[in-house]
Parts: sequence; structure tokens; C-alpha cells
Amino acid sequence: MTNPPVCNYEGSDYQQSFWDQGGREYEDRAEAIALKRLLPKSGRLMLELGAGAGRNTPRYAGFDRIVVLDYSTTQLAQAQQRLGRSDKYIYVAADVYRLPFRDKLFDAATMIRVLHHMADAPKALEQIRNTLQPGSIFILEFANKLNLKAVLRYLLGKQTWSPFTLEPVEFVKLNFDFHPQAIRNWLSGLGFSVESTLTVSHFRLGLLKRIVPAKLLAALDGLFQPTGALWQYTPSVFVRAKVNGSAETIELPTDVLSLFKCPDCEKGDLQNKQDHLLCPSCNARWAVNDGIYDFRERMK
Ligand SMILES: C[S@@+](CC[C@H](N)C(=O)[O-])C[C@H]1O[C@@H](n2cnc3c(N)ncnc32)[C@H](O)[C@@H]1O
Repeated sequence: MTNPPVCNYEGSDYQQSFWDQGGREYEDRAEAIALKRLLPKSGRLMLELGAGAGRNTPRYAGFDRIVVLDYSTTQLAQAQQRLGRSDKYIYVAADVYRLPFRDKLFDAATMIRVLHHMADAPKALEQIRNTLQPGSIFILEFANKLNLKAVLRYLLGKQTWSPFTLEPVEFVKLNFDFHPQAIRNWLSGLGFSVESTLTVSHFRLGLLKRIVPAKLLAALDGLFQPTGALWQYTPSVFVRAKVNGSAETIELPTDVLSLFKCPDCEKGDLQNKQDHLLCPSCNARWAVNDGIYDFRERMK
């Protein structure tokens, strides 16, 4: 079965052009405040989906180990440069739609600024759900189609699509905005309970960002974020969802290999062959390059 297309960041200068030189200090700081509110203080094994260049990864430092996952190996190489190579970080190139992990492995996961690239969001969310233990926490950021600008434009007749309906809107190829209620419906259908909702980036306006220092604007954003429990009209929304069921103390595998399953045949027990992992069940070989486990396509 073929998966939906991936928005390809291979070779992209996203971190530099969008964040470092893109005038987005306010958004970055506002996200840091939201994450601090939502993240468990500590944990054992965190899965960061679509980590990009690892902008948010240092914010997960309370976790013993972090799997830094992205489809793009050039993004992962930048993450490696930022975070270094140590036992704390496991770098994995894989497709969110086809995750190479054993079921019920992680005690937390985050996916920030990634769902907006998912043409089949429920399918992606289902894959993530399968990797999470009962009682674990999933922090999801999504782009909100019910944002104030879209509502006003629609009411003034300047936009054809309705921000009030549940289906996602693809505003640019492979870039989707979602209705908050649709996200809640999908999460609850998959066995998550939404514990908290924060609205983020209330002040994403060029003029305000130019005249108010980013730190102050982000602090103000922080004051408004809890209103997300009541209504959501910001461009970005964060939810903290818990997998239903009570937490079990599952032994954290010490060996990295035992985290993985073959994404093709879904069997475990991959064998380490130095420059690749071998699946003894289907003979698929998965490359290991410069400390990155690559599960995107089997080696020829
Ligand atoms: C907008 S960037 C966000 C990066 C990071 N989360 C941040 O907020 O700085 C989106 C990231 O999602 C990754 N991505 C998109 N589709 C993916 C997929 N199907 N599987 C894995 N990663 C994907 C891209 O490679 C890119 O690094």
C-alpha cells in the first residue's frame, strides 16, 4: 500500500531562512513557553517526530533518551551538529506514515510544525499512537484553519474556503490547516484524551513584531495561551493528549536495536551489520550512515 507523499526538506535551508534569519524569535519563544507548560518534567524515552534541525530538541532535556526523527537526512545532520552524538540522541530518518519502532515503546512524543505537511493526518496520528505506551503523553502542534485572519477574510468575502468546516484546507501544495474540532475528533477516535489546549502566536503581526521586543511579545502570548481551553483563533495550536489506559513500567531497552522493527514486514530482531541493519524475516537492509539510521527505503 502506498503512503501519502512526503514534503521533502532534503537540502533545505529551512532552519537558517525561516528561523535564524526569518524574524521568528517571537514565535520560537512563544513555542518554548507552551512546551514548558505541556511537557512532562522528566521521562525515559521521547520520540520527536519531524524534528528538523533540532530547534526544539534541547527543550526535551528532562528525558533520558530522545529519538530525533525526520524524513530529511540533511535536517538530521544539522540536528546532529546542534546536539552532538551521544547515547542521549538516536537519529532516525523515517516517514511518519511508516514508523520503524516496536509498539508501545515511548513514554512521550512531540510533533511540532509537522502535521501541516500531512495529506492523511489521521493515518499519521495512528502510526504515532501505536508507538506510545498507555498513559504516555503526546504533544501536537497544528496549523489552525479557524485562525482569526481566515475567519475575517471569509466573512468579508475575500476567501472562498470556510474556516468553520471540519475538513483540512490545503493552502499551498502539501501544506494544510486543520480545524481544532477535527483534531480532537481524530485524537479521541484513536484512544487519546486531550488534557490541555494552548493557543500560540496570538501576535503574529509584522507591525507588532517590529515594535515590541520578541521576549515581551512572547511573554504576553504566554498570558493568553491558556485561553485555548475556551476558544482557538490563533494560527498555531498546541494540544497535550494522553494515551488512554494506565501507565505501565516497561523496561527501557538498553540496546538501540531493540527499539526498532522492520518498517516493511513489521518484524523485530533487526541485526547490526555495521553499515546497515538486516531484517532476518524479510531480508530488507536499512542503511546506517554517519550515526543516522535510515528507514526510508531499503538498500538495493
Ligand atoms: C516545518 S519543519 C519543522 C521542524 C521542527 N519540528 C521545527 O519546528 O523546527 C517540518 C519537518 O517535518 C519533516 N517531515 C515532513 N514530512 C515528514 C514525514 N512524512 N515524515 C517525517 N518527517 C517529515 C520535514 O523534513 C521537516 O524537517
